[in-house]
Amino acid sequence: MALVQKYGIVKLQIIGMPPMVCTTNPDDIEVFLKSTLENPIRIGFACLKSVRLRAKDNYFNKNTGLLSENGDEWWRLRSRVQVPLLRPKNVAMYLPAVDGATNKFLDRIDLLQAETGQVPSDFMQEIYKWALECIGLVALNRELGCLEPNISPDALPAQLIRHINGIFSGFNGTEMNFPFWKYFRTPSYTKLETSHAAALELTAGAIREAQARLEEAKALGDPNRQLTVVRIVADLYISIMETLLNTEGLSRSDVATMIIDMLFAGVDTTLAMSFNGVTSRMEEYFPQPLEFLPQRWQRDRPYGAIHPFASLPFSHGTRICIGKRLAEQEMYTIIIRMLQKYTVTFESDEEMKVKTQLVLKPATQLAFKFHPRN
Ligand code: HEM
Repeated sequence: MALVQKYGIVKLQIIGMPPMVCTTNPDDIEVFLKSTLENPIRIGFACLKSVRLRAKDNYFNKNTGLLSENGDEWWRLRSRVQVPLLRPKNVAMYLPAVDGATNKFLDRIDLLQAETGQVPSDFMQEIYKWALECIGLVALNRELGCLEPNISPDALPAQLIRHINGIFSGFNGTEMNFPFWKYFRTPSYTKLETSHAAALELTAGAIREAQARLEEAKALGDPNRQLTVVRIVADLYISIMETLLNTEGLSRSDVATMIIDMLFAGVDTTLAMSFNGVTSRMEEYFPQPLEFLPQRWQRDRPYGAIHPFASLPFSHGTRICIGKRLAEQEMYTIIIRMLQKYTVTFESDEEMKVKTQLVLKPATQLAFKFHPRN
């Protein structure tokens, strides 16, 4: 990252990886993204692919999901899941449930602050719980209960949090280091494998339930009865999970990979910016880049024109983040609800720093204080 910042464009050769060209120039980024529209290849997630290829009883039938596939297999999935997941109407039907989860999160903040007047040092884990609760509504079609005050270690949310954390830590140990796991089974690879298998078991259970409901509805001869969305949402619509299960050309294991990818990609990214986060923090493209100046995005661009490829946190083109609309809905909801309820201050002398762990995340304690508004 430091080299790219210094030289603007660098060619990197990391052992075990194909050569890479990294640039912070938005014109180059535009050319690169536009020229790969037809066949966008993403390297990475090789360990996830390996885990799925070796899954028990060949559960995934050698199809490893959106995150790790490329070419025709990636497009077979992408073309079937992108409409259900990106259509604004489908995303909006989860808004009341996301709002409900967000209000519970704010109640939890009150509880966490009750004793010391400040949120605990592991507040990041609390944010993950909120993110998991929100994405669980869509991916697993249910309220998980991650924000309940005392979760028993055997309860579903506690198990899921453990398995998703296990996937992250296994992933960081394999994907972010020299790929020793390709030569022997490293502890991180084993962690990824066992956590993934456990998450799959929970996911497969939720899929079986949804499928049973669909079959029951069909048996009753009333196709409209399929419209059994999440209990907590108006039951006028069909849930995204049921839509995927009903989509021709998608197998049950395709739906399972999609759900695990959503849980995995949808929790950790809630705090993320993509690699062009470097470009987004360059004076050349954004005056006073480290200042919080939301007005810079106003239509009349009071701080000058913005290059359309200078800040693309969700990427662009055919491989754009499939959870973009869901993520935006979650972020708008939490920002609105939080600022309606509190004035937020940052109570630390240390400046907020970030680190890269697959995505950018805070490297300093989230020492926020939430002051209720009168
Ligand atoms: C602030 C939140 C998020 C950010 C900044 C983000 C960012 C990204 C980026 C940069 C990519 C890569 C696109 C590329 O390779 O060109 C991506 C892909 C992906 N994201 Fe997100 N994401 C976020 C939230 C989510 C959520 C909530 C989900 C859950 C549905 C999700 C699911 C995925 C999946 C499955 C892919 C792979 C898509 C594909 O390869 O076709 N993301 N995301």
